[in-house]
Amino acid sequence: MMRSHYCGQLNESLDGQEVTLCGWVHRRRDHGGVIFLDIRDREGLAQVVFDPDRVDTFTKADRVRSEYVVKVVGRVRPRPAGAVNANMASGAIEVLGLELEVINQADTPPFPLDEYSDVGEETRLRYRFLDLRRPEMAEKLKLRSRITSSIRRYLDENGFLDVETPILTRATPEGARDYLVPSRTHAGSFFALPQSPQLFKQLLMVSGFDRYYQIAKCFRDEDLRADRQPEFTQIDIETSFMDEADIMGMTETMIRNLFKEVLDLELGDFPHMSYAEAMRRYGSDKPDLRIPLELVDIEDQLKEVDFKVFSGPANDPKGRVAALRVPNAANMPRKQIDDYTKYVANFGAKGLAYIKVNERAKGVEGLQSPIVKFIPEENLNVILDRVGAVDGDIVFFGADKAKIVTDALGALRIRVGHDLELLTHQWAPMWVVDFPMFEENDDGSLSALHHPFTSPKATPDELRATPAKVLSRAYDMVLNGTELGGGSIRIHNRQMQQAVFDVLGISEEEQKEKFGFLLDALKFGAPPHGGLAFGLDRLVMLMTGAQSIREVIAFPKTQSAMCVMTQAPGAVDNKALRELHIRLRETQKAE
Ligand code: AMO
Ligand code: AMP
Repeated sequence: MMRSHYCGQLNESLDGQEVTLCGWVHRRRDHGGVIFLDIRDREGLAQVVFDPDRVDTFTKADRVRSEYVVKVVGRVRPRPAGAVNANMASGAIEVLGLELEVINQADTPPFPLDEYSDVGEETRLRYRFLDLRRPEMAEKLKLRSRITSSIRRYLDENGFLDVETPILTRATPEGARDYLVPSRTHAGSFFALPQSPQLFKQLLMVSGFDRYYQIAKCFRDEDLRADRQPEFTQIDIETSFMDEADIMGMTETMIRNLFKEVLDLELGDFPHMSYAEAMRRYGSDKPDLRIPLELVDIEDQLKEVDFKVFSGPANDPKGRVAALRVPNAANMPRKQIDDYTKYVANFGAKGLAYIKVNERAKGVEGLQSPIVKFIPEENLNVILDRVGAVDGDIVFFGADKAKIVTDALGALRIRVGHDLELLTHQWAPMWVVDFPMFEENDDGSLSALHHPFTSPKATPDELRATPAKVLSRAYDMVLNGTELGGGSIRIHNRQMQQAVFDVLGISEEEQKEKFGFLLDALKFGAPPHGGLAFGLDRLVMLMTGAQSIREVIAFPKTQSAMCVMTQAPGAVDNKALRELHIRLRETQKAE
């Protein structure tokens, strides 16, 4: 080994000792005849001082530039009083440079690594290998590695087996588009990359493995956002003979241990909330419980009013009228209300009515609002009492189809909570349970809310009769308004699985073609089983305080699903295409 210590590991206990460091020149300063080099490696920085009396080394130190790779032999000594740097792990000491070897030179980097600079993400990703040299990026990847080792340790200790499942496979329905890989040996046929290992892990349960996990790459060709990548990682778990309480309990303990081990944080017990309650009170199936604002239903007070905008949805079984009280915000400027009105329009809301509660004792006179004139005072009072409005509050209103009101006020709740800095605590983990089995599409057909292998809380006959009413045995873990993981107890009975496929409108032929192997497996003694999968990237994002999962993935894709460093996806030559039995359409060839 060339080095004796990592730079960031040097401290006072090594006083007087000779050390050998290998790393990059982070910063070079010339201080009246003395040269300081900050040397950087993955563990941190060390300050090395070169005195002019050692002419040879001094001359070399004078010539090095940022990001040169060097080897330094030197002696550790305390820094002079006043020069101690508390922000640096090795800030109490410095190294007197005795020998310096330049191992490799470096061009001037495209962006400085030794100071904060506002570099565009595209440039950072193009030179990701340099971006990752920055200590704050290295920290995130180191934390990611500690997170996966903590999780592996927990699962290993609890009897889980790590089993790999195929990457070249068939479509695995998780609701996104597939990435396809053409087959050379089977003309015209394609593999799909897995959207998750879902079916394989279920089959491992049929095989009797009982407890499985895998830190698994998943691929989904969907619209990208800050918390979505086309290629991402799941902590994928499956068990047999455990019910939802067992599985939630075990994985909750895993996450609690993880936070304790890695961040020294106690998360406490995670509350459980039904999907229906989450949608009603928070307007979201992944409520951010750090924000102390709630939606309150008020249809009953508005059925008779002379204002169609409210009375229409109040009388529509698929409508919703709800209020959102924001404390101490009656002084909100008009401009801000207009901004919020534009914001909720993104979710389909046609307006954003409000009441500023200036002085309740004055009755209607004490309220400032474009809508109070439409609502009888007694109904107004019931509404204001119900939302708990006091002087100084503003109350927002949404009236429309239930989905629009829920989405719009749910999003407004989050936005206002952050804008007005209302967050009451730092960590809010929870479970959402009792999801509906299906959701209705615009054309009236049904889709599985989780996936079609989730066990319904009904018999096959009940399921066929009233599918839209049936709940499922699914559960999601939510942290600070982000869906961290989701899973369910699965169907282990062939008739039930077929009933679900039938309700989804999957013909018998298609069932055989796509899922024949699963239906077969269910015939040969499938145990009751269930599990879940966590999004590792999202977990690391939250634990490191990053704003996007791109910040915690070594080599992520851009928003348009490409890698600007390797320029993937790229063109392939005609020979390769011919072997794959693929001919491009004229338009693509021209590009
Ligand atoms: P689901 O589709 O809910 O469930 O995925 C599980 C978790 O994976 C994360 N996730 C993503 N992270 C980054 N980018 C993406 N594009 C992305 N999509 C999902 C989320 C999510 O909670 N097979 C089931 C699990 C099961 O039933 O056991 C599944 O994949 O954090
Ligand atoms: P209008 O009579 O259309 O000017 O609306 C009066 C007030 O009601 C305005 O503050 C609008 O922003 C608001 N408003 C209009 N439509 C809706 C709606 N569907 N939900 C909530 N508020 C609305």
